[in-house]
Amino acid sequence: MAKNIEEIRSILKKYNQEHLLNMYNDLDDQKQKILLNQLENIDYNLIKSLYENTKKEQQKDNDAKIEPIDYFDKNKLYDNYKYYEGIGKKAIKEGKLAAVTMAGGQGTRLGHKGPKGTYDIGLDSHKSLFELLADSLKEAGKKLDVIIPWFIMTSRENNKETVEFFEKHKFFGYQKDKNIFFFEQGELPMVDTEGKILIGEDGLVKEAADGHGGIYESLVKNGMTAKMRQLGVEWVFIGGVDNCLVKMVDPVLMGLAIDKKVTAAGKSVVKANSKEKVGVFCKKNGRPNVIEYTEISEEMAEAIDENGELVYGESHILCNLFNISAIERMGASELPYHSAFKKATYIDKDGNKIEPDGPNAYKFEAFLFDAFGELDDMVVLRVKREEEFAPVKNAKGVDSPETARELYKNFYNL
Ligand code: UTP
Repeated sequence: MAKNIEEIRSILKKYNQEHLLNMYNDLDDQKQKILLNQLENIDYNLIKSLYENTKKEQQKDNDAKIEPIDYFDKNKLYDNYKYYEGIGKKAIKEGKLAAVTMAGGQGTRLGHKGPKGTYDIGLDSHKSLFELLADSLKEAGKKLDVIIPWFIMTSRENNKETVEFFEKHKFFGYQKDKNIFFFEQGELPMVDTEGKILIGEDGLVKEAADGHGGIYESLVKNGMTAKMRQLGVEWVFIGGVDNCLVKMVDPVLMGLAIDKKVTAAGKSVVKANSKEKVGVFCKKNGRPNVIEYTEISEEMAEAIDENGELVYGESHILCNLFNISAIERMGASELPYHSAFKKATYIDKDGNKIEPDGPNAYKFEAFLFDAFGELDDMVVLRVKREEEFAPVKNAKGVDSPETARELYKNFYNL
């Protein structure tokens, strides 16, 4: 049952967060209700411990046993290529594949106003990232005579704008709630450097998306996995919105996963050089994992195998395929949160709007690959960077609209 304001006040007092009710009387009825609901649902112990963790040195799991992971090279499967492709094609034609696009990120580095998927990378067609993804999904489906159901993960912040954008474009030929579905990811409050939860300009708790690691739980909690099961889906490709060459329908990847009897398969591209700032696939304590560039020693990063290739050279590119059962399992497991120090406008205790010049608050995010440790095994498939990876991250320079546009044009011979 909903708690009354006095009960909430006493909880806030216990956690030193009483300021969160300072603006309560200035809010209209509806917002008062939303605020109370937010305050009732915050896990204050979690926020307290996440804030305390920001003060500690990043803990490294020194005891973990890190080993290289085996991988298949898509361009060196020779006769097996057709074999795996055949298995995958059959399953896809039977309607067993769904695609999920993670579009809940804030896209701060790109600095585009509006959801990242609405961004026009500057092709002559002026198609948005969403449209480029829709084109490739529809085209792949057409080849296999099937419509691949598409699930879009948004955030509370960008859900409305995202759905409106799709409406304006007639869902790119998809039908809402029939073969295209939208769902919101989870959020966590932001805290200042004193551990105080922030109030945003709307007078409500300032929350931020809880990272792409929230995907599994969100898929389950929002009834998306149930919906997939109803549709007869068994396998789910999960990718980001900002890779304009993402290949969401890949019969070879799917065939490999089915043939090898694993519940997940991920794509990699060869790390450009030992210093590239990317996470790489590995095994941690015998299970699949991704080790971040900040966590890997220089010696490991530079280690070379007998073929002269980097031992830890399979970059994780956020292109993964999961069996629904694996998603449900990962959705039930608790992932660690990582903190990021960000710039956040907020309302101070006297009711003044503060627009900081630099980072002032912590945001907490879970990473999708932290759940890989839940999996017994995972197939890694090395693909060609120029065929499948054209990310749009920064406004300029590496991984920018300019680099992505060139890669896209080269791939499609535009
Ligand atoms: P990034 O980690 O690159 O984050 O997301 P971002 O939000 O796009 O950009 P920055 O870091 O703020 O500049 C990789 C993918 O994961 C999605 C993003 O939308 C993108 O497709 N993502 C990220 C979410 O869906 N939710 C999140 O909370 C974070």
